[in-house]
Amino acid sequence: MQTTRFSQFDIKPIVQVSPTTTLHRKTTSPRRLSPVFAVSSPTATSPSRGHQVTHSMPPEKLEIFKSLESWVSESILPLRKPVEKCWQPIEFLPDPSQGPDGFTKEVRALRQRVFGLSDEYFVMLVGNMLTEDALPTYQTLFNTFDGVRDETGSSPCPWAIWTRAWSAEENRHGDLLRTYLYLSGRVDMLMIEKTLQYSIGAGIDIGAENNPYLGFVYTSFQERATFLTHGNMARLAIQGGDPVLARICGTIAADEKRHENAYTKIIEKLLEIDSNTTMLAIANMMKKRITMPLHLMYDGQDPNIFEYFSAISQKEGVYTSRDYAEILEFFITRWELEKLEGLTGEARRAQDFVCGLPRKIRKLENRAKKLESRRVKFSWIFNKQVNV
Ligand SMILES: [Fe+2]
Ligand SMILES: [Fe+2]
Repeated sequence: MQTTRFSQFDIKPIVQVSPTTTLHRKTTSPRRLSPVFAVSSPTATSPSRGHQVTHSMPPEKLEIFKSLESWVSESILPLRKPVEKCWQPIEFLPDPSQGPDGFTKEVRALRQRVFGLSDEYFVMLVGNMLTEDALPTYQTLFNTFDGVRDETGSSPCPWAIWTRAWSAEENRHGDLLRTYLYLSGRVDMLMIEKTLQYSIGAGIDIGAENNPYLGFVYTSFQERATFLTHGNMARLAIQGGDPVLARICGTIAADEKRHENAYTKIIEKLLEIDSNTTMLAIANMMKKRITMPLHLMYDGQDPNIFEYFSAISQKEGVYTSRDYAEILEFFITRWELEKLEGLTGEARRAQDFVCGLPRKIRKLENRAKKLESRRVKFSWIFNKQVNV
């Protein structure tokens, strides 16, 4: 088996050894990552980008977000699903109210269903679950965005109402996957729980600069990426003989699609009223590269765990550099970026850069060297080895 090297996208990993000193860290692994998986975590506390720009949106732009509040109420808040119409994790899990015999029977059936799923599949499912379960990190991040943050924790501002509702919907994803993994008996919950604690402690650095233009570009991209990821996990669950897990992943994917729609509409609206700034924001985030959430993931043992998890997702076709290019192409079409007119010179250059990027990514991908795959052990599956 071979895997692909994407060294052209590498960002050198860093380790912060003191509050003021940042060193490049030597990794033991060859860099073989796609553009989406470019940063790894050596410690639970290190910032990943080495520099952090803050509050890059000029204060006068706050008015734009204020003026959009009624539009958010009319066009974005309806994309929430009422709680009474939402699925809940227990609907997909063994029902403890059936009494001990019925519950045990259902747990046994679950454990038999997952029998045909590979260790690689479980590593990906754990990584995806942790990505969902680190939700406090994302809600915190959203509340760093100027002009749209929840100022009180229960603010009636429509932007804040959306963020809380989004968080509440997302919260079910991690809960469901985590309980399913626990009952499967295939994973080391202690190591998974430690990874989650390290990871939430480490946080996330997407380079959004407290800037909602940048933040909403990221969330648009990320929701689509998770939609594709969970959808591919559903497909593999069917192949592995677990239709219930397939339904779980498919149901989560449907939520992600609805969220993608919300964030995509926000960028569409910003393009309509402030095309120059929005076009520059899209280019800004694409230059930084959209990093998967939880890129600072750490299990207390393996500093390369995020890289390995990402490499498996790439190899198994669950989330690949091809997907990255396709997501970008999707947004170029959806936001009609090629047709934008009347831009400033700088925004026109940003437009050219973004519209030409998918072709460049594909070209680099085709030219990328093939690397031998190798065996790597994962704490999440009791230190068993998988192909990376
Ligand atoms: Fe999610
Ligand atoms: Fe989502």
